[in-house]
Amino acid sequence: MNSAVAFDIYGTLIDTQAVLTRLTELVGDKAPAISKAWRQKQLEYSFRRGLMGDYCDFSVCTRQALVFSCREQGVEATDELVASAMQAYADLDAFADVPAGLAALHGQGLQLHAFSNGSRTAVQRLLERAGIAHYFSSVVSVEDVRSFKPDPAVYQHLLRSCGVSAAQLCLVSSNPFDVLGAAHAGLRSAWLRRDPASLFDPWERQPDIILEGFAEMTKRLPALFQQASARPLA
Ligand code: 2OP
Repeated sequence: MNSAVAFDIYGTLIDTQAVLTRLTELVGDKAPAISKAWRQKQLEYSFRRGLMGDYCDFSVCTRQALVFSCREQGVEATDELVASAMQAYADLDAFADVPAGLAALHGQGLQLHAFSNGSRTAVQRLLERAGIAHYFSSVVSVEDVRSFKPDPAVYQHLLRSCGVSAAQLCLVSSNPFDVLGAAHAGLRSAWLRRDPASLFDPWERQPDIILEGFAEMTKRLPALFQQASARPLA
């Protein structure tokens, strides 16, 4: 039976650290605070817009969150600063362990998909820049259903797009909100703990597997698909 793996993009396959580097060049010692607030506010905007039914391209959430985060730190969000920081976001690289990990999973015969709040165009560009686009059967974007993660509609769209059952599709994400959204929608789920210090939400539902790195995936994902689809709530 076909089994598929859908990968979140930002923070999972694609390393957003380079954004901090560019922000440091632009705003100096306020960069860490702005960078942290930027990601949090970007996601908050997507959650709010998803709940409101007020969809916009994810890059708009990203840009508006950047402006807010700069102003919060008393930094003027000039057109030049915003353009430079947004360009850094568009030019991000993959984590070092990603190419070999994808090659190994692809070699196991698993269908691989990219799944993101980002537009298909933005994600395709990142995958091509990182030299990993050829591993993916498809790029699935929430733009097709005009909502955002963790709306159940986006995971149902992912399932339809991949053409497999929920028991045969595992979402891999470093973002707990995304893992919980997928699990709530009935998909298999794997939390990729990129930061050892990061915590998973103490919710009643937990990921099927927790991975400390890509290398573990090739060993643990095939076994996951063999398990019965019923998943005990934590
Ligand atoms: C994504 O790529 C926002 O990381 C999240 O969908």
